[in-house]
Amino acid sequence: MTTCLILGGNGFLGSHLAERLLKRGYDVRVFDSFQTGTTNLETVKGKIEIMKGDFLNQADVLQALQDMDYVFHYIGTTVPATAIKDPIYDVQTNVVGTVRLLQLAVNSKVKRVIFPSSGGTIYGEPTSLPVHETHALNPMDPYGISKLVIEKYLNYFNRAYGLDYLILRYSNPYGERQSPHGQQGVIPVLLNRIKLGERPIVYGDGSVERDYLYVGDAVQATIALLEKKTPYKVFNVGSGAGTSLNHLIEVMSGLVGRTIEPVYAEDTIVRVQKIVLDISRLRDEVGWQPGTSLQEGIERTWHWISRL
Ligand SMILES: NC(=O)c1ccc[n+]([C@@H]2O[C@H](COP(=O)([O-])OP(=O)(O)OC[C@H]3O[C@@H](n4cnc5c(N)ncnc54)[C@H](O)[C@@H]3O)[C@@H](O)[C@H]2O)c1
Repeated sequence: MTTCLILGGNGFLGSHLAERLLKRGYDVRVFDSFQTGTTNLETVKGKIEIMKGDFLNQADVLQALQDMDYVFHYIGTTVPATAIKDPIYDVQTNVVGTVRLLQLAVNSKVKRVIFPSSGGTIYGEPTSLPVHETHALNPMDPYGISKLVIEKYLNYFNRAYGLDYLILRYSNPYGERQSPHGQQGVIPVLLNRIKLGERPIVYGDGSVERDYLYVGDAVQATIALLEKKTPYKVFNVGSGAGTSLNHLIEVMSGLVGRTIEPVYAEDTIVRVQKIVLDISRLRDEVGWQPGTSLQEGIERTWHWISRL
């Protein structure tokens, strides 16, 4: 049986991956610090191996890597806002931690490392839309710069040591189990304010456009790529459509059956104005396309948030 290690498997993307890999018949081990104190793994409990540990502790990581074929490196110690505040921590944990992981993966005879990069930040301000994988990489913030450095290291370890890899440049995944209190993932944050009867806060004038992808679709694309031999190692994973914050608010208004008036606040972070990913490579290679509409995905997220 093929063994899969999910580093960060208790997180938003990692927990969905754990569910889906298990369903596809893989042998799954989750490694996580479980620092939030909550578990996202209720549905798979007893059917996967769970290992608690610290990614920054080499002995823990080495233990986690034993007998693993595929390693999904879904630990992120920062999000764009926190990486801007403390870029040294970002580099020390994400970049140094990942380079150490790759060294250990070579020694542990891992077959492939799968890495979630950032379609939203790695390209910087796009010169053409939708953004293709071959677009220049000019990240404008520390989070995107770290993702770029890690991508380069994956390529280096492949050339130097033959370690295989797959890079998934996710756009803006959203859905159940994305923290409504976090600094990444605007959809649950807006929905949570609505649930609490508070006006959602929109930074800027609401015209900023992003490519939102329902988490179930993101994970489905990930597994489709895992299982198909393709000549490419880098893929955009998005919906291929741009949506403004104002449009998100409209969809949410429709969902709750009343007009939601957001509070517009000054945006202190320098952001890309519009980003939409070109997903033709993904479509052509594995025949994948997103199956969940924005309305449907937001509705599912709303139902999940409503029950919290
Ligand atoms: N969510 C997004 O919008 C998005 C978009 C593109 C890329 N990504 C990338 O995907 C990855 C996962 O993102 P997510 O949204 O699922 O994040 P998340 O915060 O929900 O999950 C990360 C997990 O890593 C664990 N973790 C953090 N530090 C650890 C440590 N030192 N030792 C052990 N475990 C540790 C956390 O406990 C958590 O369960 C990250 O690399 C992120 O940059 C996310």
